[in-house]
Amino acid sequence: METDQTSLFPISAASLSDSKKRQVGKYVSSIWSFPDSEETPLYRWYGTLPKPLVRRVIELYSPETVLDPFVGLGTTLDVAADLGIQALGLDTNPLGCLASEARLSGISSKERLSKELTRISSKLRGSLTQQASSGSRELDEFYAEEKYRYSRKWFRKDSLSALLSLFSEIADVEVEGIQRLLFVAAAQTVRDVALVDPRCTHHLVTKLKPYIDPVPLFVQAANSATRAVRDLPADPGRVRVDQGSLLDGTSVSGRYDFILIHPPYLGMIHYHLIHRLATDLLDFTQGSTMPSSLQQYAFDYEIHPRPCTNRGKNLRAWRQMRRHNRGSAIQRPSSPSRN
Ligand SMILES: C[S@@+](CC[C@H](N)C(=O)[O-])C[C@H]1O[C@@H](n2cnc3c(N)ncnc32)[C@H](O)[C@@H]1O
Repeated sequence: METDQTSLFPISAASLSDSKKRQVGKYVSSIWSFPDSEETPLYRWYGTLPKPLVRRVIELYSPETVLDPFVGLGTTLDVAADLGIQALGLDTNPLGCLASEARLSGISSKERLSKELTRISSKLRGSLTQQASSGSRELDEFYAEEKYRYSRKWFRKDSLSALLSLFSEIADVEVEGIQRLLFVAAAQTVRDVALVDPRCTHHLVTKLKPYIDPVPLFVQAANSATRAVRDLPADPGRVRVDQGSLLDGTSVSGRYDFILIHPPYLGMIHYHLIHRLATDLLDFTQGSTMPSSLQQYAFDYEIHPRPCTNRGKNLRAWRQMRRHNRGSAIQRPSSPSRN
C-alpha cells in the first residue's frame, strides 16, 4: 500500500474497498468516542488511554513492532499482546512499570491469590485487635532515613506502621506474579490512608484524617486489579516494559516501525510526586527484604539519584521489628498522632 508520510493517517482513500472506506471514515473523524470502554481500574493512574482507542490506532497501521516510550499502565503493551505484535514500553516511574508488568503477566492461579489475600488480611486484622503500641519507636528509627523524610510527614505513625506491616506480609508471598499484583494493590491504598487528598494531582493537600485500616481497602484493590489484568499472559520475549526514558539515549535499541506517544501533561500531572508515598514504601520494602517482584526497579529513581548505602542497617532493623512484632504487626497508638 502506498503511504503518504506527511498525513496523519497514511491511507489513500482511492486504494480502499467501500467497506474499508466506511471503517476508515469512522476512524479519521476528529472525534472518537468509546462509550463502552469503562475498564476495571488496575491502579488509579492519571491520563491512561482507553484500550479500544489504542487498538484502533495500532490496527490502522498494522505495524510489526511498536514502541511506547511513556507507557503508564501498559495499555499499548496489552493491545500489542492481544494482536501478537512485538512491543517495548518505557516509563521512568517504577510503579507504572510494576503495574504494567502485573497487567501483562496476569495471575497464574486465582485460587492461590485468594488464599494469600485471606492469609494476609486475617493475620493483620487479628493484630489490630491486640491494640499493640510498642512498634512506633522501632519504626521511627529505621524509617527515619533522610530519604524518607518527605513521605514520613504525610503519615500518621499508626497508618505508616500498618502500611509497612502490609508491605512486609506481601514481601513473604512466594509466587512472583501474585506478589507483584498485591504490591500494586497495596500501593493503591497508600494515598487513601495517608494525610493527603487522594484525588489531588498537584499538591498533597493535608487532611486531618482518623486512622484508616488499609487492609479492607487493600483487599478491594486486589480484587479489582485481578479483574483488570490479562487472562492470558503476554509472551515476555515479545512484549516487555523497561524502566527508563527515551531521553537518556540508552533505553531503546533496535528499530520500531510504530511509535505511540502519550507523554505526560507537563506541569499538570506530577507523576513522581503523586506516587511518591507509594514508591518510597516500595523502595523501603525492597531495600529491606528484596522481594522478587521488586528487584528490577529503582524506586528512588528521580528523587535520590545517588545509590542508597545503608541497606544493611535497614535490613537488620526491619528484621528486628518483625521478630518483635510477629503476630501483632499493626501498631495503633492509643491517641492519634501525626508526624
Ligand atoms: C499520560 S501517561 C501515559 C499513559 C498510558 N498511555 C496508558 O494508557 O496507561 C504518561 C506517562 O509518562 C511517564 N513519564 C514521564 N516522564 C517520562 C520520561 N522522561 N520518560 C519516560 N516516561 C515518562 C509518566 O510516568 C506517565 O506514566
